[in-house]
Amino acid sequence: MDLLPKNHKQFQEEGYWNKFFQDKQTKQGFEWYASYEELEYYLKQSIKDKEQRILVVGCGNSALSEKMKAKMNFTQEIVSIDFEEAVIKKMRHREQKGVRYEVMDALDMKFENCEFDYAIDKGTLDALCADRTPETASRVVKYLNEVVRVLNSKGGTYICVSLLQDFVLDALVSFFSKGLGNDHAEQNIFEFRIQKIEKVVQKTAPDGSQMLPFFVTVKRTVIPEDAKLQDLRVKMAETIYF
Ligand SMILES: C[S@@+](CC[C@H](N)C(=O)[O-])C[C@H]1O[C@@H](n2cnc3c(N)ncnc32)[C@H](O)[C@@H]1O
Repeated sequence: MDLLPKNHKQFQEEGYWNKFFQDKQTKQGFEWYASYEELEYYLKQSIKDKEQRILVVGCGNSALSEKMKAKMNFTQEIVSIDFEEAVIKKMRHREQKGVRYEVMDALDMKFENCEFDYAIDKGTLDALCADRTPETASRVVKYLNEVVRVLNSKGGTYICVSLLQDFVLDALVSFFSKGLGNDHAEQNIFEFRIQKIEKVVQKTAPDGSQMLPFFVTVKRTVIPEDAKLQDLRVKMAETIYF
């Protein structure tokens, strides 16, 4: 199997992830886009409080959760999920204290509402959002609604490390800024920021282009009851740093 898909669409093919994690090149661990070390600056900038409850969505066999736990000294257990049973089984064997791995579909999470302060996604939205078809759009909306649901409504933050291809950026803006398909748009505002990840060791995509990841944060807060939605929409921060 070629390590990376020939095109983005392959991400969504049945069995792609299962085969990916069986491959001998990826079996011991494969870090998509950026390692913990390359992300540390951005993570520390976003997550300052050690008490935060963290969920890693679509963890694969990345060492991100383990390294965050070890190097950022979080007091709470970090929960990491992936829908690939085989990869979660392996991750459990690594037996790192304070990191829990669960088999779970990110589109149908078994967590309570507002259970986490951060949901970290490195490459998972990219895997779910491969094109502009209606099927993909509804899958992405389902996923993002689940992410928002499990985040606390007083500052819970979705961190998404993505290549931000145009259809991925459009999906994020349409859901969080325009509120399209967003079940929480009437009660919440979403503060949306994008930063380019500097100093990442650049990897080359199968089509020869350079893969340049971005660090996206979306913070969920509740609209105060007496505020007019329209006023707040205008105030909604949308900052892009390039
Ligand atoms: C691009 S890989 C990123 C893996 C890991 N986060 C990393 O950075 O190395 C995408 C991951 O999302 C997982 N995934 C895709 N769709 C999922 C879903 N519906 N529920 C849970 N995990 C999913 C895949 O199994 C895969 O591990």
